[in-house]
Amino acid sequence: QRECFESGTKDHKLPPFNTHPDELEDLARQRLSSGGWSYASCNAGLGTTHLANRDAFSHYHIIPRMLVDTNQRDTSIELFGKKLSAPICFSPVGINKIYHPEGELPVAKVAGELGLPYTLSTAGSVSIEDAAAYNARGAAEGCAGGKGAQYEDGLRWFQLYLPHQEDLATSLLKRAANSGFEACIMTLDTWQLAWRHLDVALSNYGFYRGIGAEMGLGDPAFLELLKQRGIDKDADAKAVGRTWIDQIWHGKAFSWERIPSVIQEWKELSGGKPFLLKGILSVEDAIRAKEVGCDGIVVSNHAGRQVDGSISSLEALPAIVDAVGSQMEILFDSGVRGGSDVFKALALGAKAVMIGRLWIYGLSIQGEEGVRHVLRSLLAEFDILMNVGGFRTIGEIDRSAIRPSAVIP
Ligand code: FNR
Repeated sequence: QRECFESGTKDHKLPPFNTHPDELEDLARQRLSSGGWSYASCNAGLGTTHLANRDAFSHYHIIPRMLVDTNQRDTSIELFGKKLSAPICFSPVGINKIYHPEGELPVAKVAGELGLPYTLSTAGSVSIEDAAAYNARGAAEGCAGGKGAQYEDGLRWFQLYLPHQEDLATSLLKRAANSGFEACIMTLDTWQLAWRHLDVALSNYGFYRGIGAEMGLGDPAFLELLKQRGIDKDADAKAVGRTWIDQIWHGKAFSWERIPSVIQEWKELSGGKPFLLKGILSVEDAIRAKEVGCDGIVVSNHAGRQVDGSISSLEALPAIVDAVGSQMEILFDSGVRGGSDVFKALALGAKAVMIGRLWIYGLSIQGEEGVRHVLRSLLAEFDILMNVGGFRTIGEIDRSAIRPSAVIP
């Protein structure tokens, strides 16, 4: 982290862009096509959930401590029996070829290199196996370079959009398990894309179909489905894309009754690895997730892209932690833009924080280098915040470290 900070100021070895989130957003907007930018940036409806996500962080304040010997700080945590170099994970984000021709591959690689969990989306634009290989490559390079990673094979999780076609669901889970994915995170909030004005205006749905089907094309169950429907995979890219996207964003709701069998299947295929539900915002749903056998949840509102006018993710967090935090792992995302946001979510009880748009912007601006620069900057910012704030370990960051805004009459 020190290296990152100092080389930026002294040697100018870092990519030539500053990682303030406003700057990242501006640069990404300049780099992307209007379709690409609108997909990355658009939010549901009036965008009020997105604004609430950001606003919620400003209602908590960190209480710094002085004269603490922070010289031997440690940002690492243990999660599901694995050591992470910091409590920061990559949120799953679909169709990365919108942002860079190499798609998910450089992102998986950088996560491996830094010793942080990478989450591959079911809506990925590369195959499960290729993403795994790049994640492993990054980890091996990280290990060799003596930095970041503890796992020569990388630490990766698979995000599941549950297809209605059961064979396809089984096939995806099997491929993820066989490719060394260490957890399955099933996303609950996006079986249908919400109304997103920009996206609708640009008819982006057709655009995703064109580049969103590569993961499907590597899948035997999906190829079988194409065959049954008489779709020629080499000649009719549009029909292939439509079939794939319609499997994962099919617009048909599932109910809680379906979850135990998905968990059981994942456990059997993976040899008992953790299963999480993503998109939980209520105490009732968190308790239900525990009851059906989940090992963890992600408190998330999908960056404000699904339910407009929803509770912010940070606002939902403390009550959920109080209800189930001692019984399962609670991860958090939606709205994190800097080290102090990571700190506040941890203080409110999240075990680790996931980030999405920050790394999308890095990828859009400068591919692999861009993702690396954004992540290393965030890690450095967080580490330095711990240093100047007087916190030596992640375990010391609890509710006593923050205070909600006082109401000043
Ligand atoms: C997402 N997210 C998402 N989630 C998921 O489970 N599968 C997916 O394929 C995607 N795709 C996706 C695309 C884009 C463009 C965005 C912005 C988000 C949601 C993501 O995992 C995460 O919940 C949020 O991005 C976290 O909020 P921040 O960090 O982006 O504010």
